[in-house]
Amino acid sequence: MSTLEGRSAIVTGGGQGLGWEYAKRLLLAGASVAVVDVVPEAVAAAADTLGRNGRADRVLAHTCDVTDEEAVAAMVSRVTETWSGPLILINNAGGAMLPSQPMESFSRAEWDHVLGVNLTGAWLCAKAIVPAMRTEGYGKIINISSTMVSKGWPIGLAPYIAAKAGVVGLTRALAKELGPDGIRVNAIAPGYVPVSTKKTVHKPEAAIALRERIAGEQCLPRTQVPEDLCGPIEFLSSAESDFVTGQVINVDGGWVFD
Ligand SMILES: NC(=O)c1ccc[n+]([C@@H]2O[C@H](COP(=O)([O-])OP(=O)(O)OC[C@H]3O[C@@H](n4cnc5c(N)ncnc54)[C@H](O)[C@@H]3O)[C@@H](O)[C@H]2O)c1
Repeated sequence: MSTLEGRSAIVTGGGQGLGWEYAKRLLLAGASVAVVDVVPEAVAAAADTLGRNGRADRVLAHTCDVTDEEAVAAMVSRVTETWSGPLILINNAGGAMLPSQPMESFSRAEWDHVLGVNLTGAWLCAKAIVPAMRTEGYGKIINISSTMVSKGWPIGLAPYIAAKAGVVGLTRALAKELGPDGIRVNAIAPGYVPVSTKKTVHKPEAAIALRERIAGEQCLPRTQVPEDLCGPIEFLSSAESDFVTGQVINVDGGWVFD
């Protein structure tokens, strides 16, 4: 039996990049998967690809901005009305989103945007899905932080690193509060993973230098690939990890130790 058969997962930011990889892995492991993203074309293309080979009834495409509380509530309702059984929420939508710059150069609106998607969005999605998880007496919430929280580095990403540190706090607070309801809340902290999505955070030469420097500092000295994260995502989504909660798992080739 597949590890996730009978479970339903929501993957935010699932239209491209790492979220798309998570959606694909969860689907292959037997779950039904809602691909949720703010970019409609990405949602449609991702769902179309994932739904091939007779899997269309286990894939749902939903365009939604995770910072919009009403839209998030409607998204969760659609998923719970479509499928039953244990629920998995992968709070993946996010990223540094802005070019790297000195801390005083960010505007208040830019700060709010980065915190909004990475942190507030994760809280809003959890808030919307927790009632259904409580009814089930079981649930899995997986937040995505970053090893940059442990490093406080690279310089130029203050809002992002602050938001991802907030994700760690949210993970621990929700694990403590929701544990008695059978809801497990964990986070994964990836290292540096090049993805095909066009990025504007670092100039291309800076991105290559960063990648090589980080790979050299890891215990396993190679650049991380998306597949490195899929096993841990499946594990935290499955019954195999039912006594694991409130944890942040660094999946980074041994770059940081805390
Ligand atoms: N790639 C890395 O090196 C790395 C490292 C550590 C953490 N992460 C985290 O992993 C997650 C995915 O990163 P990625 O590299 O695949 O980024 P990406 O930019 O390729 O994908 C992010 C996705 O989130 C979506 N999104 C953005 N704002 C949204 C919103 N308001 N509502 C819904 N969806 C929204 C985007 O459209 C996109 O599809 C992010 O949270 C990122 O911070 C990535």
